[in-house]
Amino acid sequence: MVKTLKYYFKKAKKEKWAIGQFNFSNLEQLQAILTAAKSKKSPVIVGTSVKESQFIGLRQAVALVNSFREEKGLPIFLNLDHGRFLSYIKEAIDLGYQAVHFDGSELPLSENIKITKQVIKYANQRGVIVEGEVGVVGKDLTKIEEVKKFIQQVKVDSLTTNIGTSHGINPTNISFKILKEISDAVGQMPLVLHGGSGVSEKDIRAAIKLGIVKININTEIRMAYTNALKKVLKDNPLESTSYKYMPMVISAVQNVVEEKMKLFGSINKI
Ligand code: G3H
Ligand code: ZN
Repeated sequence: MVKTLKYYFKKAKKEKWAIGQFNFSNLEQLQAILTAAKSKKSPVIVGTSVKESQFIGLRQAVALVNSFREEKGLPIFLNLDHGRFLSYIKEAIDLGYQAVHFDGSELPLSENIKITKQVIKYANQRGVIVEGEVGVVGKDLTKIEEVKKFIQQVKVDSLTTNIGTSHGINPTNISFKILKEISDAVGQMPLVLHGGSGVSEKDIRAAIKLGIVKININTEIRMAYTNALKKVLKDNPLESTSYKYMPMVISAVQNVVEEKMKLFGSINKI
């Protein structure tokens, strides 16, 4: 049986763990994430924001992920993160992304619903799954009435809401009350937590208990990568051969990802 992302969402919901989405913008970050997935036997989502995908190239991101999937024989899913334009989302789908996130959260709800429907129509016909979003991450908490309206009208495969996290490493104040209300309202719908960097272990565990099955991590990847790179170059000022110093950078990122996989409970879930 081919294990799809939907399969893992269902399994994670039932068994109360979460699959991590780790963003990348270069080959070394991707290598680090996938080495972690291989060593921990964890399913994994690799994400590219629009800017990250423009930096690597949509086509190149797909080719890289496909070649690692073939070689490593792992459930690796490539997701376009925070896509805001239908045309760009369509391009990602046509080129081979397995999942797309349409972020219409800044739009009026009716407009968000309208475009999410168009994304779903295009994606589902091509076997691609869609994450929708209600409530802007980092701004006001999502309103439960809006969630109810949204899921009545749109059949997304997973849903992002704002329960009090934000992008970057900022103090978080998750409202477990709103998360519980959303969780009760959506039933089996997989819920996504954005702004996963810097969220305490205690809060991550509590969020997973209340129905979060996908957690996005970006800033902690970027920081591990950049800090390790700065350090290795400072410690080895005469070194100019990247394949000699990059392994240390890769292993710093790999450590972060492995710790998150442990925390999310996705180890040995392939
Ligand atoms: O969409 C990506 C995530 O929400 C990442 O958030 O940078 O706080 O880890 P983060
Ligand atoms: Zn996000």
